[in-house]
Amino acid sequence: MENKINLTINGKEVTGRPGMTILEVARDNGIDIPTLCYIQDLPPIGACRLCVVEVEGSRTLVGSCHTPVAEGMAIQTHSPKVIATRKVLVELMLASHPDACLICDKANICELRRIAADLEIGLPRFRTRKHYFPVEDENTDMVRDMSKCVQCRRCVIACKSKGDEPLFGMAYRGFDSKVIHGYDQPLGSEACEDCDACIDICPSGALRKPRRAGEERAAKALIIKG
Ligand code: SF4
Ligand code: SF4
Ligand code: FES
Repeated sequence: MENKINLTINGKEVTGRPGMTILEVARDNGIDIPTLCYIQDLPPIGACRLCVVEVEGSRTLVGSCHTPVAEGMAIQTHSPKVIATRKVLVELMLASHPDACLICDKANICELRRIAADLEIGLPRFRTRKHYFPVEDENTDMVRDMSKCVQCRRCVIACKSKGDEPLFGMAYRGFDSKVIHGYDQPLGSEACEDCDACIDICPSGALRKPRRAGEERAAKALIIKG
């Protein structure tokens, strides 16, 4: 019979299998832990730290996306300390993020925006220092707006997992740290495999499909006219 690991999450007794992470067991039990860099079925990236939880006996918060469950663990996924930490992390991301939700193409599906709303984040507490990069729209398959990048690295890992030469990589340090294409060239018209893997998993408006101005409105007008 398969080995079972017994633990508690938020006081509820749950079981996991060897090798499962805290995040996987939590999600299997309907407990929502926010994540920005995690991609199901790919190795954990550990970049965003939003998935942190409190584990009894541990002096520091632990990343649930890469910490395996162990027998007898007692985990709190939404304790005051955890929520306060997640809030600070998201607030710091927003401090360098453009205030552009109202005109953002991904606004309705933006994971960053949803997480910020779930955490009830309001007016900025930290001094803001925005990243401004020109929107790269030369490529026929992808528009890139690095001002909105949260450096989760999902695009880097997803592209790499395809097996070919990855389109993206990380470069620079600190505030200047950035996802780059090639030797930090703009995303020109050269084609990638056009698999859309990176666009689909980008949690913000940094990567999106091209859309010509007025295209959606024109399509809607046609539908209304019948
Ligand atoms: S990427 Fe998300 S948070 Fe950023 S401007 Fe767009 S909707 Fe807002
Ligand atoms: S471009 Fe998107 S997927 Fe890539 S690191 Fe930035 S936010 Fe993450
Ligand atoms: S989801 Fe765990 S570190 Fe990002």
